[in-house]
Amino acid sequence: MPIAIRPYQDADFDALCRIDADSYAPEIAYSRRTMRAFLRLPGAECLVAEEKGEIVGFVLTDRDGPAGHVITLDVAPAARRRQVGTALVEAAHASLARHRVREVDLETATTNEAAVAFWKKHGYRECGVLRNYYQNGEDAYWMAREI
Ligand SMILES: CC(C)(COP(=O)(O)OP(=O)(O)OC[C@H]1O[C@@H](n2cnc3c(N)ncnc32)[C@H](O)[C@@H]1OP(=O)(O)O)[C@@H](O)C(=O)NCCC(=O)NCCS
Repeated sequence: MPIAIRPYQDADFDALCRIDADSYAPEIAYSRRTMRAFLRLPGAECLVAEEKGEIVGFVLTDRDGPAGHVITLDVAPAARRRQVGTALVEAAHASLARHRVREVDLETATTNEAAVAFWKKHGYRECGVLRNYYQNGEDAYWMAREI
């Protein structure tokens, strides 16, 4: 079954929170309030991946002029390693490029081997380490690429 990428709608909110909760340790996962605040940022754009009518992943970005930021990209555990994340990041890059974004950055936990491999595969380079970046004291890589 093909993966369809489409813009987020309000009715998707619970599915996003569920996938986020399934993707991170409780102290790192976003609260519903934080998720809502990100979705309401003036430059926010959220795209969801749908398979057989079910949301299996989403990407949330923010942009300000030529600068873009990936807030998060989460794929439901059962749907991983089937190129859902790739479809989402490619769609997000295309939209950011249409809005004249030139560089995109993000943070990801240094221990998150899947995510670090994923972002490197999609052209992101490590720009530095942000010590104690997460609530649980974990460090993050600051990663970026041009688009
Ligand atoms: C990181 C994540 C988004 C990847 O999504 P995905 O749909 O499984 O990724 P894809 O199938 O598109 O994988 C593309 C490439 O990324 C790399 N990759 C993805 N998962 C990997 C893993 N577990 N181990 C090593 N490399 C991995 C591989 O190079 C892969 O290509 P391949 O399958 O041809 O070898 C997913 O694991 C996830 O949601 N994790 C939890 C949330 C998270 O950490 N998000 C990113 C932080 S912002």
